[in-house]
Amino acid sequence: MTMRTAAPGDLLRDIYLAGPDGRAGQVTTNFEALEEAARVVLDPATFAFVAGNAGTGLTGRANREAFDRWRLVPRALRGITRRDLSVSVLGERLPTPVLLAPISAHTTVHPEGELATVRGAADAGVPFVLSSYASHSLEEVAAAAGPGPRWFQLYWPTDDALTASLVRRAEASGYTALVVTVDNPSIGYRPADLDHGFLPMLRGVGLAHYTSDPVFRAALPPNAGTKEVVRHWAGVTGHLALTWERLAWLRGLTDLPVLVKGVLHPDDARRAVASGADGVIVSNHGGRQLDGAAGALDCLSAVRAAVGDGVTVLLDSGVRTGSDVVKALALGADAVLYGRPYLYGLALDGRAGVRHVLRCLLAELDVVLTLTGYGSAEALGPELLAAAGPLPLP
Ligand code: FNR
Repeated sequence: MTMRTAAPGDLLRDIYLAGPDGRAGQVTTNFEALEEAARVVLDPATFAFVAGNAGTGLTGRANREAFDRWRLVPRALRGITRRDLSVSVLGERLPTPVLLAPISAHTTVHPEGELATVRGAADAGVPFVLSSYASHSLEEVAAAAGPGPRWFQLYWPTDDALTASLVRRAEASGYTALVVTVDNPSIGYRPADLDHGFLPMLRGVGLAHYTSDPVFRAALPPNAGTKEVVRHWAGVTGHLALTWERLAWLRGLTDLPVLVKGVLHPDDARRAVASGADGVIVSNHGGRQLDGAAGALDCLSAVRAAVGDGVTVLLDSGVRTGSDVVKALALGADAVLYGRPYLYGLALDGRAGVRHVLRCLLAELDVVLTLTGYGSAEALGPELLAAAGPLPLP
């Protein structure tokens, strides 16, 4: 089944014209209700793995609070007859300022896993960032993907030959950028997952790039079972010794643009760029790593100021609505990565669920661009925002 990429505004029209009967069985359009709907269809351990945060959940709350502190101050009668959602990222024009964040092990929530996700993303015209810990290999996901850009996220292994092999495979199968995640040298302290004793990769789920990799396989006997695979994976994953100096080595491995994901401090952003990165992703991993960390949006303006205008800066962690996307762009992001909500869409209705959630986000973004009076994603700036509370007197 191939679905066309609909214009964002079509969603509202289609739903209203279909009326209440046409809506029966459809996944909710309410971003806040998505998580509860997913809780109903997922088993408790899987739901906790997706929704859970590190420690007390403070970082997750900080992500949302950072968005809530900013309010939009719209401008009227600006004659916004057309909206332009497109943005430039890494020198390429993207139809919208949204990409899918890398999330591990999609088969934990839907049997078709990343294959359904990449198809749903293509249906909505949104690029997919494939996690290092995926249930389908780089090549399988490439074969299922549409013609649009897609990126590969690297968890840097301790074995350089394996790193080089994964990067080569990403290049050979048409991924157009490399996202190196640096906020996960070891897994965060996640009480919900610990209480369930559940981490998909330790059960062999999410290791498809590794089991299909010639360098990884060469280190194992030909008939190695899940136990040996997981043991070897655990031995090459979690690179505690990494330093910025090593980024130059990775940079030298590939001509693909490199983005460093998981940066909050402006000095780290500068360091990433000085080490050869083409951009940074301001992120705290959705609150899953360090408890008590700063909200990602709270760090965005400082990171943008540190690297200047010419460097790609993306943001994730806590983006839920069209207004959130607008706030991130107004504070200096070129685009955002959308995380958990699309995984809830996948859990609820596979490919169609991913497409639906993305269409909802883009429809709301389209509406917000009209209602703010800005009209174009690239026209957004901090003058659209005010801190919550009364405006200063003119
Ligand atoms: C993630 N994230 C993540 N990041 C990454 O670089 N590689 C990965 O494999 C994963 N895996 C992963 C699994 C799950 C279940 C979640 C929820 C998240 C982090 C992800 O890319 C992104 O930073 C967060 O999802 C952003 O937070 P929100 O907006 O989804 O809350």
